[in-house]
Amino acid sequence: MSPQLQLDSHGRLRHLLTLEGLDAALLTEILDTADDIERSLRGPDKKLATLRGRTIVNLFFEPSTRTRTTFELAAKRLSADVLNLQMAASSTSKGETLFDTLKTLEAMQADMFVVRHEASGAAHFFAEHAAPDVAILNAGDGRHAHPTQGLLDLLTIRRYKSGAGSGGNCFSGLRVAIVGDVLHSRVARSDIHGLRALGTRDIRVVAPPTLVPAGIEQMGVRVCHRIEDGLDGVDVVILLRLQKERMLGAYLPSSGEFHRDFGLTRQRLGAMRRDAIVMHPGPINRGVEVEGEVAYGPQSVILQQVSHGIAVRMAVMSMILGRGGRGRSPVAAGRAAKQGRAAGRSGSGTSRQRRRA
Ligand code: CP
Repeated sequence: MSPQLQLDSHGRLRHLLTLEGLDAALLTEILDTADDIERSLRGPDKKLATLRGRTIVNLFFEPSTRTRTTFELAAKRLSADVLNLQMAASSTSKGETLFDTLKTLEAMQADMFVVRHEASGAAHFFAEHAAPDVAILNAGDGRHAHPTQGLLDLLTIRRYKSGAGSGGNCFSGLRVAIVGDVLHSRVARSDIHGLRALGTRDIRVVAPPTLVPAGIEQMGVRVCHRIEDGLDGVDVVILLRLQKERMLGAYLPSSGEFHRDFGLTRQRLGAMRRDAIVMHPGPINRGVEVEGEVAYGPQSVILQQVSHGIAVRMAVMSMILGRGGRGRSPVAAGRAAKQGRAAGRSGSGTSRQRRRA
């Protein structure tokens, strides 16, 4: 899978398939755009006109609560038309291939597909076969990547840890623990790529040996098999669910034993820095990777992660589809489109006259 497929010849995003290969400048631009968008929508008007007239299709071949709904909200807040295909009720259940599904929907003039699939590489497949003016966003493929989750995690960390680090880079001095089923986790991989690109050097993956992928140290992380070592002095802990739907065998004696050895309890919070934040991509399995009181305790930012998902997804969609080729920020492009519409309503020329001008 080539990460370069997602960039155009100027290094701008064409698709978003993985955080692997994205540099600090581009990641920072996405986070800054998400901040801009969120600031611009603080008033009663929750919409920008950035993607008016564009069509975005959500193709979720795997269940989702957070990602699907926040992608839909993000697209609607950018004024795009949104189509949600119910994959279980679509013709894929009659044997239609991914390629034929893609080409069929392209024929309806879709501009962007948001794809979640249980197979690693599915989003790359779509990007390789999509028409030149169609963009693909990976909403999670197998255990490979979940780039918008990685981005919303980075945004959340930046919001809560902006005072950390040196030289204006809050990520450089952070200590981050990723705890749980790293072996099956696309979120862990995306978080590690993003954090490393932004300069975080102390990343620990904390799990029993059966749930750590071979060679993960090559991604620039340290492996800990004892949670006490993994949590020692960290600023951020990212918890991961046991992804039983991706487990083909017995990786653990039981969920209870996993909780005993690796669950985040109130008592274990004491090993972390006092101002450490607790993150989790969801869905949560209470009493397994985290105690219920910790999941919604004062250090938890799990629900804030969900909110940040909307801004990050708006940022990515608008950076790919919404600049209008003039290098304008998505917020400026959205405002200009809205003003253009208002001017049209107030009779300052027909749309054809404005285009000619
Ligand atoms: N974090 C995440 O991907 O959650 P969903 O499966 O609910 O979309």
